[in-house]
Amino acid sequence: MTTHPGKKESRFDPEPMPRRDFLGLAALGSMIAAFVFSVFGMLKLPKAAVSATLSKKFNVTLPDTLLEGEAFIPPGRNVAVFRDGEGVYAISTICTHLGCIVKASGTGFDCPCHGSGFEKDGTVRKGPAPKPLPWLKVAKNGAVFNIDEGTTVKSGTKV
Ligand code: FES
Repeated sequence: MTTHPGKKESRFDPEPMPRRDFLGLAALGSMIAAFVFSVFGMLKLPKAAVSATLSKKFNVTLPDTLLEGEAFIPPGRNVAVFRDGEGVYAISTICTHLGCIVKASGTGFDCPCHGSGFEKDGTVRKGPAPKPLPWLKVAKNGAVFNIDEGTTVKSGTKV
């Protein structure tokens, strides 16, 4: 700020930009930068870890190579489908202990979490699982089997 007109008191006299204007522009620039960074931050938010739930009902065509008593586990499903001389049946592969997904083994299913074992018909071979694996509803439509993961049926029900 000049106190004596015509006389320079500093190298900033006269100021190239009035201090008040500079501070106003700096504040405006900071606001714009904060807005831009917040928009980028929102765009980079993690996406939901869950995807849309699949329908509980789905169709399966059993491979011709499926052996009697061999488990066929459709990709992305927690169901084992079996074919034997009496028909086709499906068993949930969700462990009845704490809900881990059991793995098919030569003699049935083994749970990787706490060691439960199940026979091919879902009965408990080894705890701590408290109940057998539930049998699921299967409907036959020609060579296609419609499986309903949301509906259990009595053990031994085959189509
Ligand atoms: S969840 Fe399968 S044994 Fe615990």
